[in-house]
Amino acid sequence: MGGQFFFGGVETGRGQKTVHVVTMKAIILACGAGSRLCPLTQVSSKQLLAVFDKPMIYYPLTVLMASGVREYCLISTPDDLPRYQRLLGDGLQWGISIEYRAQPLPDGIAQAFLIAADFIGSDNVTLMLGDNIFFGGDDFPRVVSSFDGGATIFACRVKDPQCYGVVEFDRNGNAVSIEEKPREPKSSYAVPGVYIYDNDVVEIARAVKPSAWAELEITDVNLEYLRRDKLQVRRLSRGFAWLDVGTINALHEASAYIEAIECRQGVKIGCPEEAALVRGFLGIEQFEDLIQKMPTCEYSEYLCSVADEWHRLKGEK
Ligand code: DAU
Repeated sequence: MGGQFFFGGVETGRGQKTVHVVTMKAIILACGAGSRLCPLTQVSSKQLLAVFDKPMIYYPLTVLMASGVREYCLISTPDDLPRYQRLLGDGLQWGISIEYRAQPLPDGIAQAFLIAADFIGSDNVTLMLGDNIFFGGDDFPRVVSSFDGGATIFACRVKDPQCYGVVEFDRNGNAVSIEEKPREPKSSYAVPGVYIYDNDVVEIARAVKPSAWAELEITDVNLEYLRRDKLQVRRLSRGFAWLDVGTINALHEASAYIEAIECRQGVKIGCPEEAALVRGFLGIEQFEDLIQKMPTCEYSEYLCSVADEWHRLKGEK
């Protein structure tokens, strides 16, 4: 299975060895006041808002599922956690597991590793921001399945790099610096909200000090990996879409983007049920049971068409 790594062996006393399997786990971060989206966020968490036909949180979750990750920790505010639990449950319905942890205050993205340290245990972890939407290519599944330590982050060309973490590359394409929201960016390459780390990230995050914005910055974690010469920065291929849904306009644009692709191509983006079937987390019978439990709606009709296609390709029915 993708995202699993083996190392070492422990003597059990009977001369047998138990092998520790290092898995890739994932944290999805869904806190933040969403103040730029007020009044939409007055009674709803930002990452539960609709992006076209689905809650925003479905998009990052599906990208991670499509990358083969099966164990999740969702972090949100104490107020919003019950809403996420109602929507996503324990994940078993999609062949995954979801645990929940609270972040009482938005004290920084890197705090996620401290809050979820017991969830991470001795495994690797991918952190994904709940308001980042990705579409296209197979960059993430490839990186997750070939990850072998250190940290891997991504870089994507944007028009407004000063709003993000910005990576500077040397002539050979190696990252030489990363700055958080610099006034004068040294490149047009922003760091999107998906980060892949080995287990050292917990110890590194523990040593991070609050920034001038009083937050534990994810950029400081990445800088420490850079200092240790263990940071890989991969430029996302052209044709890859990264949308950061932070403002009303961006939310609207993201919805229009998803609508355009879904309506034109007849496929859904950010559909966890479909990702579970494709990755083999669910068998076709379990997938069809899921559909049975849904009301008749455009979404369940789409899932029926996925099941029909599955049978057609298998030559059944
Ligand atoms: O979107 C990518 C950018 O995300 C990166 O390029 C930056 O390096 C990184 O710092 C971050 O910048 P933002 O300005 O987008 O961060 P923001 O504070 O808006 O938070 C991003 C998401 O993370 C948002 O959905 C809320 C969530 N969050 C944020 C903080 C600070 C939390 O859940 N907890 C937090 O403590």
